[in-house]
Amino acid sequence: MGTAGRPLIGTSWKMNLTPSQARAYVGTFRGLVADLDDRDLFLLPALPAIPTVRDALRGTRIAWGAQDVHPEDSGAYTGDVSAPMLADLGCRYIEVGHPERRRDHGETLELVAAKVAAVVRWGMVPIISVGEAERNPETLALTQVRDELARALEAVDATTTELVVAYEPRWAIGAGRAAAEPERVGAMQAGLRAWLTDSGLPHGRVRVIYGGSVDESVAASLLAQPGVDGLFVGRAGLDPFTFAAIARTPLGVSGRPTR
Ligand code: PGA
Repeated sequence: MGTAGRPLIGTSWKMNLTPSQARAYVGTFRGLVADLDDRDLFLLPALPAIPTVRDALRGTRIAWGAQDVHPEDSGAYTGDVSAPMLADLGCRYIEVGHPERRRDHGETLELVAAKVAAVVRWGMVPIISVGEAERNPETLALTQVRDELARALEAVDATTTELVVAYEPRWAIGAGRAAAEPERVGAMQAGLRAWLTDSGLPHGRVRVIYGGSVDESVAASLLAQPGVDGLFVGRAGLDPFTFAAIARTPLGVSGRPTR
């Protein structure tokens, strides 16, 4: 597990699950993972379900958070939600820059950087989504993703205590796609970590997790890669039993999964 420590495994439900459905989900899920104490878990519901999920998770170690945030703390921004609002709801992780936000809302890397800064300012942990658009050769892809990450981190300095980089190649996300091969993911993520170390930013805890068509069949081989500090799950996280199975992926004695 390198310097990053405990694996981090979470899901974004995207625009799925009403508050009532979310309550039922957590009611089932929390019992299925109650004994897990060697990894960190999180759920990112849609905004209306966050208070419900927070209440339903009470007494567990599972964290919750949001899928997006506005860079300003308050103001005339109809329909938007700010970092202090999410902090007030006890959110720990805030996803920033997912390709669906970039595509559907025209988010630029400059905006992503401002959102990352807002999350850090309010004491929460950004999950910064980066990934190449096309299935390019690894060296080219690594250059592209490093550039993207550098721009997303522009407003972050060495004092940042914790952040999460979600390596999510766009060509591996969504229905009809397959996860990137574990060896490629391992090499890409090791390359990202090496760059982060060289750049000196930040000095706190950084975990590099993988997202893109993660399911039960690939979870163990992805987590077994030395560069992979965790998993970020989309579709397979919508069913509490399936997500619990992914969350329960066995880890070896050194914190690495057993195969
Ligand atoms: P998916 O989504 O697991 O449904 O491919 C992953 C993501 O968007 O992070």
